[in-house]
Amino acid sequence: MTDLVLPSETNPLNNLFGGELLARMDRAASISARRHSRRIVVTASVNHVAFNKSVPLGSVVTVEAKVSRAFKTSMEVYIDVWIDDRESGEKTKANEAIYTFVAVDDAGNPVKIPSITPQTTEEQTRFEGALRRKQLSLVLAGKMNPHDATELKALFLK
Ligand SMILES: CC(C)(COP(=O)(O)OP(=O)(O)OC[C@H]1O[C@@H](n2cnc3c(N)ncnc32)[C@H](O)[C@@H]1OP(=O)(O)O)[C@@H](O)C(=O)NCCC(=O)NCCS
Repeated sequence: MTDLVLPSETNPLNNLFGGELLARMDRAASISARRHSRRIVVTASVNHVAFNKSVPLGSVVTVEAKVSRAFKTSMEVYIDVWIDDRESGEKTKANEAIYTFVAVDDAGNPVKIPSITPQTTEEQTRFEGALRRKQLSLVLAGKMNPHDATELKALFLK
């Protein structure tokens, strides 16, 4: 999704307001999750956001979202945010985020989704780290006992 940064979307420093970027990322990620699952999807958690670079007023911003791994009913979606250089038109990476979406039926109950096979090296790296991030998110949400987070614990034993 490519869009402009308008004055009503900026903070007092004339940079894109963080909440506005979160909303844009949520919208792009939900489209990606919906296209993968062909279901209604809801945001279950925002696992990581890094506002590495500010996004100035008038910027052309591209929000790129991809499902990095599909579990039983949930999907991890990776979001990369790019800004066009005004003169060269080249895109530079400004921010990234990781969201979790769950596919649900009309009553809001989680439903099974198809799996994903990563192709590129980057897709493989993101796919492999996704289970660890899912466990971390569940532990932080109080939905998983840290003792059961085997993939996450393995990270500290390396
Ligand atoms: C997201 C939601 C459907 C999950 O319902 P639930 O009762 O926790 O369902 P489950 O325990 O079966 O979890 C469903 C999946 O979500 C995953 N999940 C739930 N909470 C999670 C979290 N905090 N982080 C990562 N994954 C999470 C579970 O691991 C499970 O994944 P899997 O089936 O792929 O293994 C439910 O909490 C909900 O409807 N929340 C509100 C969503 C919403 O309105 N979002 C917009 C905010 S305004």
